[in-house]
Amino acid sequence: MQEMSMPLVLPETFTGSLGDLPGRQASADPGRVTFSVRSGAGWTDVTAATFAADVAALAKGLIAAGIGITPMLSMARWLHVHGRPFDLHYFARSAGEAAFLPLLQDRCPEALHVHLGLPRSEQDAVVRAAVAAAPSGSHAFVCGPEGFMDKVEAVACEALGPEHFHRESFQASESADQSGNRPIEVTFEGATYVVPADRTILQVLNQAGADIASSCSEGICGTCIMTVLAGVPEHRDNVLTKAERASGELMTVCVSRAQTPKLTLDYY
Ligand code: FES
Repeated sequence: MQEMSMPLVLPETFTGSLGDLPGRQASADPGRVTFSVRSGAGWTDVTAATFAADVAALAKGLIAAGIGITPMLSMARWLHVHGRPFDLHYFARSAGEAAFLPLLQDRCPEALHVHLGLPRSEQDAVVRAAVAAAPSGSHAFVCGPEGFMDKVEAVACEALGPEHFHRESFQASESADQSGNRPIEVTFEGATYVVPADRTILQVLNQAGADIASSCSEGICGTCIMTVLAGVPEHRDNVLTKAERASGELMTVCVSRAQTPKLTLDYY
């Protein structure tokens, strides 16, 4: 089983071509680190070229659950664009809670299997059937609540082998201690805002009228990444790579704060 932290960089907007990251990044910069996988107690960076090759080998088996399934979108998009067969199983309590359903219904209806309002007692059978339908050599990726991922992991590892199962850790590994938070002065698009100790940069900027996209608000999806033009961020996320942190040029504004009293930020 591989635990992943991804996707960390989404240069396209959601309404653009969100999700074509593996192929684009592999062509533009094969050595670029696109995400990290859990490796023992630490994380190992995975390059764009390696990720694109892994995605190409998927063939089938993206299984997702919950309100947002951001980690699955880039893989589904890549597989769809490159004409690779795959199945995306989307579990949610209702259509209203399946945020990406309209997009997926529009882009890849033939690959999409939607399971709305399915009682937990019936999820097992659906997961088993999905995994059983995957050709030999397929990989399964899953994101969603821990219990759901555990269930899929048990079935997929048994059927496909542990090396062919990958799960998205959709929960921050640890929460940063907020007690030492200090107010930060953030300059964005020519205006300066004070971010109090008990609020996030994301909250303050969006309340002021910015349009910064966010999803997890826990520092794990990368949706809210912004460019740092001045100041030093204090990274509290689980999504940026070591190199990106060290560069000081990017930060996730839903959780991260600042080592310096002031930051100047721009859209990523
Ligand atoms: S990292 Fe997900 S919204 Fe900030």
